[in-house]
Amino acid sequence: MRDTRTDNVKRRARGTCREMLFSAGSALFVVATLTLQAQPPTQGGRGGRGGTITSPRNAYPDRPPGDPAAIERGKALYGVNCQFCHGADTRGGDGGPSLLRSSVVLDDQNGELMAPVIQNGRPDRGMPKFAFTRDQVADIAAFIHTFKAAGYDESRVKPPSIIVGDAKAGEAFFNAKCASCHSPTGDLRGLASKIADERLLQQTWLMPGSGGGRGGPPPVTVPPTTVTVALPSGEKVEGKLDRLDDFVVSLTTADGTHRSFRTPMNGGDAPKVEVHDPLQPHKDLLRVYTDADIHNVTAFLVTLK
Ligand code: HEC
Ligand code: HEC
Repeated sequence: MRDTRTDNVKRRARGTCREMLFSAGSALFVVATLTLQAQPPTQGGRGGRGGTITSPRNAYPDRPPGDPAAIERGKALYGVNCQFCHGADTRGGDGGPSLLRSSVVLDDQNGELMAPVIQNGRPDRGMPKFAFTRDQVADIAAFIHTFKAAGYDESRVKPPSIIVGDAKAGEAFFNAKCASCHSPTGDLRGLASKIADERLLQQTWLMPGSGGGRGGPPPVTVPPTTVTVALPSGEKVEGKLDRLDDFVVSLTTADGTHRSFRTPMNGGDAPKVEVHDPLQPHKDLLRVYTDADIHNVTAFLVTLK
């Protein structure tokens, strides 16, 4: 798999990816994190800051240090209510995505953008709602904002370039973690020419398909998430996943037919649902990178002209 580096890498990459997902088992949890990273960044809340934060170069927030008492209160609330899903360090945990690269969090100042998410939840996507007051939300926000979005801090100190990593170390990391699906001389050949903006390049490899919004459409087309529903009769229906929640899974089959089924959470002899998210490996890796890994891999990828 790793020895022949041809343009076929991509096709095989998808195969690998599927296999990984088939063996992953926890199909229903997978779907909970599906949509987060692909969402366009929230535009709201920018205007209130004097319109200074508009270009991609300084789109990452500069915040004054928070009030220590608020941070303590927020930490306590976060620890009990959020940590399980979003991780002690907000990088993601069992059931929730990393908040560090969430545009909601990045654009938020003191809870104004997080409040609707926390108070209403996104029940269809695995984020429960919480009956917190706006002050409590502000405390939680103060705590979450003590974590810096990985990979972006130094770029603020050194605005001309985010290339602060070591390309050699990045190449080694690439060979260890990425080469099973990608090749610098195969599918990723010329990547840095295709995506000249370093920040967009970094965002693209961190989460392919998420680069849109701040500076135009995402530069990469990501294959859709698919689902296989195995009916009690033995019939298997496969297609593009449209929706999955506690009650129903709906999909569009290859011939364009929409179909819906009751989901297994209803118990009984309901169908077995397997979700295949081609980007699951990328989502899993997001929790693995250190800041240094991110800098190093980006430094390596910009050499792929
Ligand atoms: C049971 C797991 C779970 C718990 C508990 C949970 N979350 Fe979430 N959270 C999620 C999931 C899943 C998403 C992604 C939803 C989506 O795809 O839109 C999410 C999304 C978010 C987002 C939006 C991120 C974005 O960019 O769209 C924020 C902010 C957030 N959660 C904060 C919190 C806070 C603060 C708490 C505690 C008060 C909390 N969450 C508790 C699962 C959880
Ligand atoms: C298990 C397979 C797998 C692994 C491991 C993996 N990726 Fe990906 N990657 C994908 C898939 C699937 C896509 C979606 C686009 C596609 O099909 O090419 C993708 C897309 C990308 C893209 C956009 C490609 C383009 O065509 O412009 C980049 C860049 C990328 N990955 C970099 C990385 C890096 C860097 C790593 C390691 C840190 C990594 N990937 C690890 C499967 C993987």
